Amino acid sequence: MRKKIVAGNWKCNTTLQEGVALAKEVEKLYSEKGDKNVVVVLGTPFTHITEVQKTVSNVGVAAQNCAAEAKGAFTGEVSAEMIKSTGAKYVILGHSERREYYGETSETLNKKVALTLQNGLTPIYCCGEALAIREAGTQKQYVINQLKETIFKLSEEDFKKIVIAYEPIWAIGTGKTASSAQAQEMHKDLRDSIAANYNKAIADQTSILYGGSCKASNAKELFANPDVDGGLIGGAALQAEEFLGIVNAF
Ligand code: PGA
Repeated sequence: MRKKIVAGNWKCNTTLQEGVALAKEVEKLYSEKGDKNVVVVLGTPFTHITEVQKTVSNVGVAAQNCAAEAKGAFTGEVSAEMIKSTGAKYVILGHSERREYYGETSETLNKKVALTLQNGLTPIYCCGEALAIREAGTQKQYVINQLKETIFKLSEEDFKKIVIAYEPIWAIGTGKTASSAQAQEMHKDLRDSIAANYNKAIADQTSILYGGSCKASNAKELFANPDVDGGLIGGAALQAEEFLGIVNAF
């Protein structure tokens, strides 16, 4: 059976001290009363990973990005190997904010996915359409094309290690969640496209997370869908109780 995953994406929020305190609280709440069928991951800023990693044991840690090169003269970059050396197990890749503000293309993402996999890390690969595309009704082709240009080029063996996060851009940080039906429709389309590109067994074992204004109050309805396997959570991941409410929403 595929994994249920709730991953926090803290983005550019929290000081080191605040981040460690938040991680400690999530670890405590999850250990005490969290649904143990759900894998919980905290996507922290690079500066926090090592310290957060030391404070958690039941909860996993993710970076929010990695360099497109293995090492060398790339000032300011953090490599997949460096992330691996902290003990973190996941890397969020291709978030729409990185595509939009930092010019991430399918080409750079292919390099990042490859380096992440080479280092034994799990990519949480983000995809999703902007409002204009949704309004034009071409979101399905658009999002599947994002996968075709990137992770659908992976071998079966590598693709099996990928977690997908579908995040409609118009729902991110806007308080405007995709309806439960809209989420299910896209997740089903994505799963069907995985089956067409690989096979049904691989499609059935791929976790597809929903992201975009997911909160404790709407997570239950979203997660009740057969093809929604969890969430990638931004704003609501910055409060431990609220985040745990999402973890426990299955
Ligand atoms: P949000 O962000 O939950 O604040 O909408 C989700 C994300 O961008 O990962």
